[in-house]
Amino acid sequence: MVHTNKAFLDVLAGHRPAHIPCWFMRQAGRYLPEYRELRAKAGSFLDLAYNPDFACEVTLQPIRRYGMDAAIIFSDILVIPHALGQDLKFVEGEGPKLNALRESADFAKLNFNAFEKTLSPVYEALRKTSSALQEEGHNNTALIGFCGAPWTVACYMVEGGSSRDFMNVKGLSYRDPIGFAGLIDLLVESSAQYLINQIEAGAEAVQIFDSWAGALDAQSFRKWVIQPTKQIVDLVRNTYPDVPIIGFPRCAGQNYLSYVQDTGVTAVSLDQSVDTRWAARTLQPLVPVQGNLDPFCLHTGGDALALAAEKIIGDLSAGNFIFNLGHGIHKETPPEHLELLVKIIREHQL
Ligand code: CP3
Repeated sequence: MVHTNKAFLDVLAGHRPAHIPCWFMRQAGRYLPEYRELRAKAGSFLDLAYNPDFACEVTLQPIRRYGMDAAIIFSDILVIPHALGQDLKFVEGEGPKLNALRESADFAKLNFNAFEKTLSPVYEALRKTSSALQEEGHNNTALIGFCGAPWTVACYMVEGGSSRDFMNVKGLSYRDPIGFAGLIDLLVESSAQYLINQIEAGAEAVQIFDSWAGALDAQSFRKWVIQPTKQIVDLVRNTYPDVPIIGFPRCAGQNYLSYVQDTGVTAVSLDQSVDTRWAARTLQPLVPVQGNLDPFCLHTGGDALALAAEKIIGDLSAGNFIFNLGHGIHKETPPEHLELLVKIIREHQL
């Protein structure tokens, strides 16, 4: 077995690591005072994300505090619609706002004219972060790139922001499946190119976030989650056959199994609703798994956190396993709770 000095990459390559690797979704963010400070200095969220020096700095902040096994580049899944020409802003306390594209005729506005120019700061941030990790001595920390999955990104593009029920995007997908497939195809092509460019700029693994995969019926899940994800996986592998791809079909329930079998992802990230014993029996023989502590258990801290973390480690650490949360860190989480969690993970002997 060939081991690297990075436990996170070892697990993704199917090797037994020296310790349980960990990183946490949204590990860079508002729960950290140093993030809030830089965020205020930058002005808007997009001014922070599109400034390579700031994005690099914010990516490194949690690594300096906690020494996770992976850093995820600071950006957002919605830079893809933005780069395709859709208006995007983040409104304080309300989340993302886009000009809603409610009919397939609206998709004609999207184009690649400013695509690479808009995304170039993300690539620059990756190059800077890759060097900075070395310079600061984080030689065991891998760098992750990411994108949103076509279905989840389409949800924001059609709804024009966050949604509780996805009425508009589902309506369009049922009423005009061919028109909607055109949008999904565009997102497959642009997301694959975006991941390839991130790898070229220094990403050592990539994650595809399908946050709203759980909103679909089984047939739509095949069409709008599995098929497009498989296409992205195939396109990225054509150029970079050895770079691991982690899929995160959040809240997919029993569809997790067909997702793993049919997309070809290297590893799968589990939300907190997945029974870890089921995952150990059903998914782990097929791929490494990542997950799945409830972010609100981390928010709570104390014995509840310790017990839940031990349970996950007990159920999953006999197989290929990366510790993570079931979804992103909540902004009210006390930073010391993460310190406790990392200590618990680090103290576990494999
Ligand atoms: O540390 C990391 O995990 C990397 C950075 C990252 C962000 N967004 C930064 C961010 C990542 C991986 C994402 C992915 C993302 N963005 C997803 C998929 C994962 C998930 O959470 O389900 C989604 C759905 C988005 C879209 C998005 N971006 C929403 C809905 C919001 C508003 C919600 C909120 O928390 O305010 C964002 C904004 C955003 N993206 C913030 C951060 C740190 C907060 C904005 C701020 O600091 O003001």
